Amino acid sequence: DLLKEIKRLEELFTVDTAKLKQITDHFVNELEKGLSKEGGTIPMNPTWVMSFPTGYETGTYLALDMGGTNLRVCQITLTEQKSEFDIIQSKYRMPEELKTGVAEDLWEYIAECLLQFIQTHHGDVAKLDKIPLGFTFSYPATQNYIDEGILQRWTKGFDIDGVEGRNVVPMFEKALQERGVPIKLTALINDTTGTLIASAYTDTKMKIGCIFGTGCNAAYMEDCGSIPKLAHLNLPPDTPMAINCEWGAFDNEHKVLPRTPYDESIDTDSPRPGQQAFEKMIAGLYLGEIFRLIMVDLHDNHNVNIFAGQDIGKLRRPYTLDSSFLSAIEDDPFENLSETRELFQNQLGIDPNPSELELIRRAAELIGTRAARLSACGVAAISKKKGYKECHVGADGSVFNKYPHFKKRGAAALREILDWPAKADPNDDDPIEILAAEDGSGVGAALIAALTLERVKKGN
Ligand code: BG6
Ligand code: GLC
Repeated sequence: DLLKEIKRLEELFTVDTAKLKQITDHFVNELEKGLSKEGGTIPMNPTWVMSFPTGYETGTYLALDMGGTNLRVCQITLTEQKSEFDIIQSKYRMPEELKTGVAEDLWEYIAECLLQFIQTHHGDVAKLDKIPLGFTFSYPATQNYIDEGILQRWTKGFDIDGVEGRNVVPMFEKALQERGVPIKLTALINDTTGTLIASAYTDTKMKIGCIFGTGCNAAYMEDCGSIPKLAHLNLPPDTPMAINCEWGAFDNEHKVLPRTPYDESIDTDSPRPGQQAFEKMIAGLYLGEIFRLIMVDLHDNHNVNIFAGQDIGKLRRPYTLDSSFLSAIEDDPFENLSETRELFQNQLGIDPNPSELELIRRAAELIGTRAARLSACGVAAISKKKGYKECHVGADGSVFNKYPHFKKRGAAALREILDWPAKADPNDDDPIEILAAEDGSGVGAALIAALTLERVKKGN
């Protein structure tokens, strides 16, 4: 009976080549639509980052990285040496309760972290000139200027009242002023834009920046002439403009993605139902939850009664399992899955039998594989839209860096979608390669601050 259930899950979660291609084609259209006057579901936000770095940027900058899991403050010095920098950084916990709390508390907490960092590294703040800051605010934001960010909507489980629809910069600056934190916010950026710019700083083949982490998204460099929604600004058509796609919102209309009842349930119970359809199938925040829903469903329904007679109280708690739980299952090196068994015993108080263990492993593989394969559709879509036949893609985030086989599975899917011929030598590089971008957000934010100040100096 369990085998029948495994088969059912395989059917639900497997995305074959034809489907990947169909998703990619729809994705290309949706990217175009987002850039058009009428707009579309994918926001395709202009970021006002209007050039790649040359490698010769200089200066000292602060970077604040407000991602999904951590809050990070960095000080980056871009040195005279081409593409070289020094970095010091501190990580702060992002308290869970702040994510669904009150706006003031969030800004105050961030301002306190910055103050602490500056005091540690520079001493008395009263004696300091204002230091330029690049703020990596990794949520969809409308920007008419680079130092503005009107939050379109919270993503990644954040749900703080009174911020959506408003420019977050004045709220943040107010908290800084109240504490006398000597900072001038120079640029507000997305983590994908930071990753793009930081990657291009050391590798000129980099054309796309991606995050596969708590959330999932990408940025790339467009020409203003291909952004009809900016036509009224009469910018020269060949002017570059980095676009933060916010592709997590892809297919919110549910036209192509092969959603399962588990995906539907994640959406319904999320703080923002109907939003981030693509992200909810692939991002780290949701992978463990998809798995949990499958397990509970197989306990309660389908007449297989897994974990029979055991207390599954812990398993019933939403979001108790994060993606590192699935990583650990997929990483279990033992034939008898003894590590997985221990994991279930220790974290959930459940002792799975051997056939349940097999089901567990297969479910994790299916979820992880689907995530990697669907992610590749986004990369393929941007590449197709831009006509990139060969390039590098810089990627960051916990899923990309830590989830077993994610890179390999993504690369295989990209190969299928783009019909590349088989490699002559397995060590040959793929034409389009997704590579780890170390520390995109910190260095990217500093570079963007530097590029912005240069532009201001030149008066454009
Ligand atoms: C970090 C970047 O490395 O990755 C952040 O510095 C980014 O800017 C983050 O938001 C994404 O990964 P995760 O897994 O923390 O969401
Ligand atoms: C979510 C956010 C997006 C961010 C991504 C990765 O999709 O909306 O802005 O880039 O997560 O962190």
